[in-house]
Amino acid sequence: EKGGYEHFMLKEIFEQPKSVHDTMRGRLLVDEGVIKMAGIWDHVERFKNANRIIIIACGTSWHAGLIGEYLIEEYARIPVEVEYASEFRYRNPIITDKDVVIAISQSGETADTMAALKLAKEKGAFIYGICNVVDSSIARITDAGSYTHAGPEIGVASTKAFTAQLTILTLIAFKLGKHNGNLGNAEFMSLIAELDAIPKKIEDVLSTTHELTQNIAKDFVKATNFLYLGRGYNYPAALEGALKLKEISYIHAEGYPAAEMKHGPIALIDENMPIVIIAPKKGHYDKIVSNVQEIKARKGKIIAVVNKGDRQVSEMADYVIEIPETSECFSPIVASVPLQLLAYYIAVYRGANVDQPRNLAKSVTVE
Ligand code: M6R
Repeated sequence: EKGGYEHFMLKEIFEQPKSVHDTMRGRLLVDEGVIKMAGIWDHVERFKNANRIIIIACGTSWHAGLIGEYLIEEYARIPVEVEYASEFRYRNPIITDKDVVIAISQSGETADTMAALKLAKEKGAFIYGICNVVDSSIARITDAGSYTHAGPEIGVASTKAFTAQLTILTLIAFKLGKHNGNLGNAEFMSLIAELDAIPKKIEDVLSTTHELTQNIAKDFVKATNFLYLGRGYNYPAALEGALKLKEISYIHAEGYPAAEMKHGPIALIDENMPIVIIAPKKGHYDKIVSNVQEIKARKGKIIAVVNKGDRQVSEMADYVIEIPETSECFSPIVASVPLQLLAYYIAVYRGANVDQPRNLAKSVTVE
């Protein structure tokens, strides 16, 4: 049932060209220039007139939510807040019937997310679900929603559900932006054509980085700490990269916005600190270059995720992982793939049980 792969996690990483495609199937109609999503369309005025959108989630789904915030604010210009479900619930949040709450959950059974949704519902908000498991508890209590269609995810560390969540959030942002006039037709058309090409880019990145990440992983089996840095859309991708590593390898890892480094974490950098830096060409590249220079000056070990043909960051990096170029908003989908592989192989070489890491369960049904 692992389809010839050693672990479910590896199988699920490799399924991503298909799962992202499945999530778009029947929704993204490139030739007609249309995004079809009944859940959004049936309530489009609710979204359009919302005071704000509040995204609630936990763990990896919360990271997807952060990227959703960037997407929806940039393309639909609707204010978005992203909250950890557990914090939202216990701080007497201000919610009205003009708010739209989006819950993101792979399992659809996460107790913290469920409890937060119930509270939002009581206060009259319109609640929307982005779940992977069909007919799950969260899917059932929401007013409307979109399934991710990533297929069953067995590995405790979420991989393909994450990229499917990003795909859905992208579709929602583009659909709302087109409808409310913030996303012009020409830009919409070029963005959806690019989105359509993402499964192929994931396929490319899987084939060009699979062996490479294994080789890099061998050098970090004994590491005790890792930093992950990114800016803009790739800041949440850095958080997610760090979460993957800590969950399955038990190496302490932290994600940071690259510019925040100088406000504290830079104190940690020496020749023993591995730093994964996500630095594609589009999106604050020059700023990232100066962050990398600061790390280099302190002899940190740099693992850089860059676009093909990159020079400036690559010259300073100890390890270079190349990914194909895309618009900034899609880069977390592509950049996440080699980070999943890197975490996977580090964990495997440490002899860890990657599919069922200690202390963790696939769905967290206690608050
Ligand atoms: O099923 P959910 O998406 O609601 O789960 C939320 C988190 O428990 C989950 O993402 C967790 O952080 C994963 N183990 C991450 O790999």
